Amino acid sequence: MCGIIGCVNDEAVAPILLQGLKRVEYRGYDSAGVATVSESVIRVTKAAGRIDDIERKYGLSTLTGTTGIAHTRWATHGGVTDRRERVAIVHNGIIENYLELKKQLRAKGHIFKSETDSEVIAHLIEAEYRQAKDPVKATILAAKKLKGQYAFAALFQDAPELITGARKDAPLLIGVGDTKNFIASDVLAFIEHTDRTIFLDNQEVVKVTNRSVEIFDMNGRPVRRKPTQVAWELADLSKMDYAHYTLKEIHEQPKTVVSAMMQNEEKLAEFVEKIRGARSVFVTAAGTSYHAGLLLKYRLERDAAIRCEVTLAGEFREHSEFVDGGSVVIALSQSGETADLLEAIREAKKKGAKILSLVNAAGSTLARESDLTLLLNCGPEVGVAATKSFTAQVVVANLIVDNLVGSGNGGGEEVARMVEEALSSEPTVKEIARMYRERSDFYFIGRGYHYPVALEGALKMKELSYIHAEGMAASELKHGTLALIEEGTPVVVINPRGETHADTLSNAEELKARGARVIGISDEPSEVYTHFIKIPRAKESLTPVLEAIPLQLMAYWTAVEKRNDPDYPRNLAKSVTVK
Ligand code: AGP
Repeated sequence: MCGIIGCVNDEAVAPILLQGLKRVEYRGYDSAGVATVSESVIRVTKAAGRIDDIERKYGLSTLTGTTGIAHTRWATHGGVTDRRERVAIVHNGIIENYLELKKQLRAKGHIFKSETDSEVIAHLIEAEYRQAKDPVKATILAAKKLKGQYAFAALFQDAPELITGARKDAPLLIGVGDTKNFIASDVLAFIEHTDRTIFLDNQEVVKVTNRSVEIFDMNGRPVRRKPTQVAWELADLSKMDYAHYTLKEIHEQPKTVVSAMMQNEEKLAEFVEKIRGARSVFVTAAGTSYHAGLLLKYRLERDAAIRCEVTLAGEFREHSEFVDGGSVVIALSQSGETADLLEAIREAKKKGAKILSLVNAAGSTLARESDLTLLLNCGPEVGVAATKSFTAQVVVANLIVDNLVGSGNGGGEEVARMVEEALSSEPTVKEIARMYRERSDFYFIGRGYHYPVALEGALKMKELSYIHAEGMAASELKHGTLALIEEGTPVVVINPRGETHADTLSNAEELKARGARVIGISDEPSEVYTHFIKIPRAKESLTPVLEAIPLQLMAYWTAVEKRNDPDYPRNLAKSVTVK
């Protein structure tokens, strides 16, 4: 779960690598390293910590050379940016058979400097290169020996004009420039320089120079592929006047819910027809996307009378008994690179199911491996905590069900106005975040359609504030969790008017009776609430979008109060590309 980038340029490459690293730092920020080759010497600078600190301390951007590779890392095994005398590599993924390969290489006299699985790749390529004398051949031969997941780029001491790379089950793409070309895990790494992108397929190898890009399959046969233009622009990547990407992305939602509604009519109709024609429907996703999946299930079953199994992506295999050729599996993902989810859809495909997906990253593996994809259109999401992508997923899910039942979905302007109104709760939410920032536990409850939103509220609070938070169905309180409630315990009650309002309010009274501080999120105030966060009155299918806004703001401002970095929460990464 790392970010890798490589570039072959006409001029000094290190400043460009550093810039690109910063753009993909959300993929992992435990440590970073840069390697360049010049005058037949590979130079490496690497260190633990955030890129800006490493740059200040070691001057990553001062490395000489016009060809280089770099890496920002989320720790799985050992150190970063492994090298041998003649080869350096950066790697994203996990090599499952690295111990076995290490043993074989040691027997041939190789000496290892680190505990990383990645270092094995550098040794393998160097060993093959000594025989093959050809960087591409050496890369192919080495890649063929690797088991697990990988996307790597390799630098050669005596071939400074090129970089090679290979991928299997981890994203790797090429940025095609005029006087420089890139290899990277993510389009954001080079979007500053070019939007012409080639997405490598699984088990492909690439050779990049400053004027050419050549792709090969694992038998060394050339593969022809045209670059595609990615829709994201540099402007999308600025924080504007916001202190953090997360806050900017929360405030972008009046716009992004409208762009999410702008779907290609034909594609949407085809998507709907596939669901209507399916013998069985499954939904799968991870994290925040799973919460949006739960909301889709609710509406499919309750409004469209279509039975639907929703399963966590990482548990899909255990629940795929009934997936077959008559099934449709709907996969939801912001990044489209979540390893558990890719494994789930490949499992489903093996059983003959059709894969429909809701994705934000257009060229991602999930989008390319799906039979049909609807894009979230919410622009790049840099903050590790999913915010605008969640509300976009809910809006697109609503579009699908509204089309299934033939009901209109109301104008974007009205939705944007209501999201703007929900954002106006910020001063109240900020004050609540300040008041409860020292608490060690936070609970979020809701019933029916609001239960998945309670799960989402808890996830946001956990990942941004590092406070233990639990989201649960309000009906479950009396079956155990009520024992944890004591004087001062903050409980967020998600409770707009509707079918479940009265029952949830009585749960809130039970909580208050035991000393809880009840934070009510609703379109209707109540004396039961210690604190009231007002959201606009809306039709039920839209309420999760409006409820999510104050929940995102609460987690964000609690993180700020606690001096956490909301954009790069500890131990996490934006795209979970390892299982
Ligand atoms: C949510 O804030 C987290 N970043 C995480 O749970 C995320 O939703 C999950 O990893 C799924 O990611 P995806 O939507 O890119 O597949």
